[in-house]
Amino acid sequence: MEKRINGDIAFVCGRWPFDPSRSTLVFVHGAGETSLLWHAQVEGLGDRVNTVALDLPGHGRSGGRPQTSVEGYAAAVIDFVEAIAAPRPVPCGLSMGGAITQQLLLDHPARFAAGIIVSSGARLRVLPALFDTIAEKFPAYVEMVDRLGFSEKTAAAVKQPFLEDSLKADPSVAHGDFKACDRFDVMSRLGSIRAPVLVISAEDDRLTPPKYGQFLEKGIPGAVRHHIPDAGHFVPIEKPHEVNAAIAAFLDANHL
Ligand code: COA
Repeated sequence: MEKRINGDIAFVCGRWPFDPSRSTLVFVHGAGETSLLWHAQVEGLGDRVNTVALDLPGHGRSGGRPQTSVEGYAAAVIDFVEAIAAPRPVPCGLSMGGAITQQLLLDHPARFAAGIIVSSGARLRVLPALFDTIAEKFPAYVEMVDRLGFSEKTAAAVKQPFLEDSLKADPSVAHGDFKACDRFDVMSRLGSIRAPVLVISAEDDRLTPPKYGQFLEKGIPGAVRHHIPDAGHFVPIEKPHEVNAAIAAFLDANHL
């Protein structure tokens, strides 16, 4: 179900209105992406919890101002969860979305009961070639995303809708997102996160390698990690059932 709220932020959700007795998974996409990334989770987990995936400001069908910092996007997510009155919000983000999730858990511990960090890291330095390619030839950037972002084992038909969606992105917005990633570094702060955290990493992820997930697992007290074989950076699209099962098990274990 597609909706809009609060200064034209677009989102898709499972049940609406929300069930006030259930937690709300708030899915956050990565750099240059949209909520399309999370459709299989919004649908597949919609019977278990409230589910919602937003297009960050300036992305997809959302209006609003794109940001160039993870803190800026974290503030936009806070505004969003307040505007939709999400019961017990649990942020779940991929890559830059995972950085936003860490920022929310670090800076707003009272607001978030737990967090899920997928294909991400506590520091997200970006390949200089990625910036050059975005600026010079956007379709070549999307080819790079295809080459580096998916497992070689993932079928073309699975990737296609996501890659077509990526081609529609505004290059300057994608550039700003990667700047936000490049500046992000909370490596020395992870130990202060107190909320339960699930980390999901994927074997063939070349953009945020499993080593980054291991660092999150070791650095965040009590964090658990689920590692998925035969998948790349975009594991929610490549292995939706495995991702959904890991998230459901985490929700069960933490009575969420
Ligand atoms: N978690 C754990 N370890 C990390 C880390 C993280 N989030 N980020 C960096 N490190 C490690 C690196 O593995 C490296 O370890 P090593 O010295 O044992 O090899 C060290 O910290 C320094 O890494 P980094 O700060 O990334 O600098 P670099 O000059 O080695 O590499 C890049 C720079 C851009 C080439 C590299 O970060 C990279 O390949 N990034 C992935 C590709 C990309 O652009 N991803 C997009 C992310 S949004």
